[in-house]
Amino acid sequence: MKIYQIDTSARKEGSTSRALAKKLLNKIKKKEDEIIYRDLNDEMIFISNLTESGMKISVGEQTDQHKKMFELSDKLVFELKESDIIIISVPIYNFGPPATLKAWADLAARVKETFKYNEDGSRVGLLEDKLVYLIITSGGTKINSKEDFLTPWLTHVLNFFGIKNITVIAADQMAIDYKKSVKKAEEQINKIS
Ligand SMILES: Cc1cc2nc3c(=O)[nH]c(=O)nc-3n(C[C@H](O)[C@H](O)[C@H](O)COP(=O)(O)O)c2cc1C
Repeated sequence: MKIYQIDTSARKEGSTSRALAKKLLNKIKKKEDEIIYRDLNDEMIFISNLTESGMKISVGEQTDQHKKMFELSDKLVFELKESDIIIISVPIYNFGPPATLKAWADLAARVKETFKYNEDGSRVGLLEDKLVYLIITSGGTKINSKEDFLTPWLTHVLNFFGIKNITVIAADQMAIDYKKSVKKAEEQINKIS
C-alpha cells in the first residue's frame, strides 16, 4: 500500500494537526507500506497568469512561471494517483482551508487527470476510490457548524476527484478545552485498525 500524508499547518513546531496525523500514520502503516510525504509549507505555487479558462496552456506558450506551475501540478496529480490511502492534516483558517491547501486543490484539479467532463457537461471524478482520513483542527469553530467551510469544501473537492471513502477525525474547538478535544481525536484514531 502507498500512504500519502499531506500536512498543511502553517506551523511546523507545536502543531496539533501534524502530531495527530503522525499518530494516525503510525497506527495504520504496515512494514511493507510506502509513505509519500508532502508538506504544503515547503513548496506551493498559486495558479496565475492563465491564458485559458481552465488549467491548460500549450507547451510552446508557457513562460518559465507556467512551467514551474505545471511541474508542481503534475507532481501533485501523480502523488494522488499513486496513493491508496491519503491522510490530510488541516487546521481551519478564517473559517476555511489554509491558502496552501486551496492552492493544492487548484493544482490537483486537472481535466482528464483527476476529473473529466461527460458529453452532457456533467463531471466525473477520475481517481479511483481511495481511503481518505482528514484530521481537522480548530480553535473555536465547531466542526460541521455553519461557520466551518473547510470540512464541506474539502469533502466536496475530494468527491469531485472521485474519492468517496472519507473519515473525518476532528480536534475542534481546541481553544475551549484542548485536552478534551485532542483526547476525542486520539480515541477515534485508536479505534482505527
Ligand atoms: C491564520 C489563522 C486563522 C485561524 N482561523 C481560525 C478560524 O477561523 N476558526 C478557528 O476555530 N480557529 C482558527 N484558527 C486557529 C487554528 O485553527 C488552530 O490554532 C489550529 O487548528 C491549530 O492547528 P495546528 O496546531 O496544527 O497548527 C486560526 C489560526 C490561524 C493561524
